[in-house]
Amino acid sequence: MRMTLRFALPLLLILGGITWAASPLMANLVDRWFRGDVESHAQLLFDSLKDSLTGDLTEDQIATLISRINGDKHLLALGLCTPEGQLTRRSAGWPPPLGCPATPPDRGRAFTKGRLKSGPILTSAFALPSQGPTSGYLVFVHDLRFIDDRSRWAEAYTVGLFALLATVAVAVAVLITRLTMRGWVKAVREGLANTADARLPPSPEIASLVGDVQKMLRDGEGQREPSEMIRVDWTADSLKHLLKTELPDAEVIVVSNREPYIHNDVDGEIRIQRPASGLVTALEPITRACGGIWIAHGSGSADRRSVDEKDHVAVPPDAPSYVLRRIWLTDEEVEGYYFGLANEGLWPLCHIAFIRPAFRAADWQHYVAVNRKFADAIVAEAKSPNPLVLVQDYHFALVPKMVRESLPDATIITFWHIPWPNPEMFSICPWREEILSGLLSSSILGFHTQFHCINFLDSVDRFLECHIDREHSTVTTGASTTLIRPYPISIEWPAAALAGQPDIAGCRKAVYAKFNLSEDIRLAIGVERFDYTKGIPDRFRAVESLLENHPEWIGRFCLLQIAAPSRAQLAAYQAVQVEAQDVARAINDRFGRDGWQPIILIARHHDAAEICTLFRAADLCVVTSLHDGMNLVAKEFVAARDDDDGVLILSTFAGASRELLEALIVNPYDIRGMGEAIHQGLSMSSDQRRDRMRLMREMVAEYNIYFWAGRMLMDAARIRKRQGIEKPLDNGEPI
Ligand code: F6P
Repeated sequence: MRMTLRFALPLLLILGGITWAASPLMANLVDRWFRGDVESHAQLLFDSLKDSLTGDLTEDQIATLISRINGDKHLLALGLCTPEGQLTRRSAGWPPPLGCPATPPDRGRAFTKGRLKSGPILTSAFALPSQGPTSGYLVFVHDLRFIDDRSRWAEAYTVGLFALLATVAVAVAVLITRLTMRGWVKAVREGLANTADARLPPSPEIASLVGDVQKMLRDGEGQREPSEMIRVDWTADSLKHLLKTELPDAEVIVVSNREPYIHNDVDGEIRIQRPASGLVTALEPITRACGGIWIAHGSGSADRRSVDEKDHVAVPPDAPSYVLRRIWLTDEEVEGYYFGLANEGLWPLCHIAFIRPAFRAADWQHYVAVNRKFADAIVAEAKSPNPLVLVQDYHFALVPKMVRESLPDATIITFWHIPWPNPEMFSICPWREEILSGLLSSSILGFHTQFHCINFLDSVDRFLECHIDREHSTVTTGASTTLIRPYPISIEWPAAALAGQPDIAGCRKAVYAKFNLSEDIRLAIGVERFDYTKGIPDRFRAVESLLENHPEWIGRFCLLQIAAPSRAQLAAYQAVQVEAQDVARAINDRFGRDGWQPIILIARHHDAAEICTLFRAADLCVVTSLHDGMNLVAKEFVAARDDDDGVLILSTFAGASRELLEALIVNPYDIRGMGEAIHQGLSMSSDQRRDRMRLMREMVAEYNIYFWAGRMLMDAARIRKRQGIEKPLDNGEPI
């Protein structure tokens, strides 16, 4: 309707203007046209009479004349005038006030327009034939009222015609516009839908539009809500302040599978390990700031020895600020719940890495039992009826529902750290309804990107009976409503690992010495868990492609790949390790010379400080995950580069690519494209590197982990306040 008006109004205005200008012109034209007719008619009449006329007309002649013109309905009267302008004879209809025309006829005739009370008239005067000087004039008086009538009709027809024209023009314009718009929208939709498929680029006409829309979406993925427009420097202190003011007395309980501190027995000594886990990297500073309790699986060999009788241990060990509560699992439980359902079922289900998910009923039983164990621990640890429970990840899809049964007033924020698949993919899970309804007992369910939220809503839409409000992004099942929102996770800023780091030159020197690299070598770094979703073998193949297509880098480039062993008892993980090692060996055999190797693969765990030093020493960081919820390595690299230097190569299938737009974005399935991106990164001017890195640093600094948590807590605070308002009074009336 709006679009119709947008087209119709200007068109109508234009056509109305034309009509307004054209209708008097039309009337004038009609007037002149018919007056000309009357004049010709008068001339014809006179010509037909003139032979029978002489200078002195007798009464009989006049009577004959009058009888001959009686049939002419537009002729009012006739009269005779002397050459001096005296009216000597006139017919009965001669208008009384009318005299002879003042001016003698020019070339024997004259036409004069006049107006009587009854309407417009025309007098036509013709010189009568004579032997000598003119003997007088014959004068006809014509009634012109019919011309007025016809002018009015002409005016009305003109307006009518233009109105019809305007209607048809508007209808045609709107139709054409609608069809064109529909075509454009379809083409842009297809362009956007194919965006991840390099084989189906958008058509050239819409390519730039699709690009703009994608950029806007990426910008939008930063989720700037009105409240976020007010720039706040998010720090541990501002988060504490937020908790105190917005969520007073809220008891914080964090739940995850992986624990933030692992106590291991190394040769009879207890050593504390920080796990290679994005979840822990992100959540630990938050929990330090908020205090409370973190419930996790005690997986370290010395974990039992390090807890009190309640299975509690205060952490961080050097400056305790919260309690870690450990849950003990049997080997069978770990096998079924963690390796089985979580990592052989849900992990490949949610990541597009073309590894077939395995769903075994026995694993599901363990998953349910372990979720129950954690839920019971949450309920047991809760000191209030409405704690703030932060449930982490795909290990605990059933926990929100189980907790809600015992603590109906709890505020449960669940964060899903990995992607959410589309409904087709999700439909293969035999326990899809249980998983969805388990999650929908959360007050808030968060994903990294809007795209994953949409996939989740579509899955709910497909498999559950509920009300979905897409405008507010909520799902209501029975009496409970869950807010589904994107909260792109981030890291601590400034990174704690930066403390005590040597300057960039110092880091470079140390790393080059450690790995025996000559000074002219340009260094790329890759850091991840040894996981098939990370695309490590493909990254190695990209190095091969670089050396094939840009041989100038042979002997001058090295990729140092750190891969922390992970879930190594699973076949798919063993396979990717073997594949990566084989590919690295083959490439090193092919190109290596004089002690130089293009790929150094180190499959062991490194701590945060070691990794930070590697980031600071490198020219490039390569993150080429086949699929990744966010990928915090990309953000950690950016945070480590306080010299504003270094190039980030980033997979388009990592959530981080929606925020770190200044990285060189690559398709990890396009080996040659990745090789070219490495070449581009190595060849980039220092100004370019600096400009890009500065923008990425601004992004990570502003949207840091405190911002991530702050947004969720603000949403939680709003929900709690609303629940408070809606709570019935003693008399049963809502406030
Ligand atoms: O990415 C999903 C995730 O659970 C992260 O949250 C964490 O960084 C990683 O996997 C670690 O996996 P795990 O705890 O199984 O070693």
